[in-house]
Amino acid sequence: MEQAQNLPATTVLVKAAGPIIIPSKCIVTKADGTVEEKEKVSLCGCGASANKPYCDGAHKQLISTDNKTV
Ligand code: FES
Repeated sequence: MEQAQNLPATTVLVKAAGPIIIPSKCIVTKADGTVEEKEKVSLCGCGASANKPYCDGAHKQLISTDNKTV
């Protein structure tokens, strides 16, 4: 893996009680060592996804009707 100081800056968008979005081409190395290249990616920030590290929309079930995380 490249040292962080040799990598270009990356934009990361963090949604409240939702996904962490990287809106540009990136390489994802999963916990099992699998490497995937993506044009953009939404990573699960809530822990509820059945498809980690990616968001599968399960975070929407964690939002109460007053739009706060339960
Ligand atoms: S952030 Fe979407 S399922 Fe976790």
